[in-house]
Amino acid sequence: MTKRLHIPVLLEEILDRLDPKPGETYADCTAGLGGHAVAVGARLAPGGRIVLNDADAGNLEQAADRVATEAPGVEIQPIHGNFASLPRRLVAKGQQADMVLADLGFASNQMDDPERGFAFSRDGPLDMRLDPAGLTTAADLVATLPEDELVRILREYGEEKAARPIARKIIAARQEGPIATTAQLAAMVRRVVRTGGGIDPATRTFQALRIAVNDELGSLEGLLAAVQRGARMHGEGWLAAGARVAIVSFHSLEDRMVKRAFGALVRDGLAEPIGRQPTTAGEDEVSVNPRSRSAKLRAIRLIETGKAQPPGL
Ligand SMILES: C[S@@+](CC[C@H](N)C(=O)[O-])C[C@H]1O[C@@H](n2cnc3c(N)ncnc32)[C@H](O)[C@@H]1O
Repeated sequence: MTKRLHIPVLLEEILDRLDPKPGETYADCTAGLGGHAVAVGARLAPGGRIVLNDADAGNLEQAADRVATEAPGVEIQPIHGNFASLPRRLVAKGQQADMVLADLGFASNQMDDPERGFAFSRDGPLDMRLDPAGLTTAADLVATLPEDELVRILREYGEEKAARPIARKIIAARQEGPIATTAQLAAMVRRVVRTGGGIDPATRTFQALRIAVNDELGSLEGLLAAVQRGARMHGEGWLAAGARVAIVSFHSLEDRMVKRAFGALVRDGLAEPIGRQPTTAGEDEVSVNPRSRSAKLRAIRLIETGKAQPPGL
């Protein structure tokens, strides 16, 4: 199979929202393969800085190499870890971000590598960790979670109508032996949910487990709380005065969280929306990058005036 390049979603729209200027600091919460970072970096020289963050150390390294080559003249600071702790790590360095981007979920190279266990199209270990050093794999979850918790995950994160029968099938199968591979789990789901001519019946189960394995909603909650705290500090915390924050989500639960958090800041007079809320990909983009079909971009700019509150972050 040929290697797909990860195509950065909504690139022009994100550049428009972030509006990078020479000398500014850009915090990329989800460096991936550096597609957005390279494009922002090209506008930051001379004197700009890119803080690259990713839970996947391999992707982080690739992104850093790519930015160094394709956006020379910009300082690069790689930070490995969950983006929920990025704000604290910036504060610890005494740095502020003028722009923040979180492009949620997984990159194409992670999905395409059967050894990472994200895909049901080719067999591999049932892993799904974005950070390969993370403690819990999808195999651990299907081996240990009680039926009701499996049902909750499948329903909430996968919007799977057949959550209960799938969970029962998993519980019955694991009495016989470990569910260790993606092909095993996918076959099990396909025996419960029939193909309706649309997406593979295993799609929703795999999505739900990936979200659970990586605590994707908890991480987003942590980042949004930090954005709210940063906005209330009026340029004294990790977000510079007038900072632009953009988040691309691919799941309705994530988009709802971003909508609420940004909406609260706008209502409190601490931020203003930038662009259409949400912005989605046009047909041209979807035709070359099908993954962009479910992307939703929301962006805000922090209001520059106001009284600083005591530092809390
Ligand atoms: C959609 S890709 C980003 C692609 C990138 N914008 C580009 O243009 O190449 C998402 C990346 O975010 C990382 N990621 C997802 N959730 C994360 C989290 N909570 N903390 C840190 N990195 C995360 C994944 O490992 C993946 O590399």
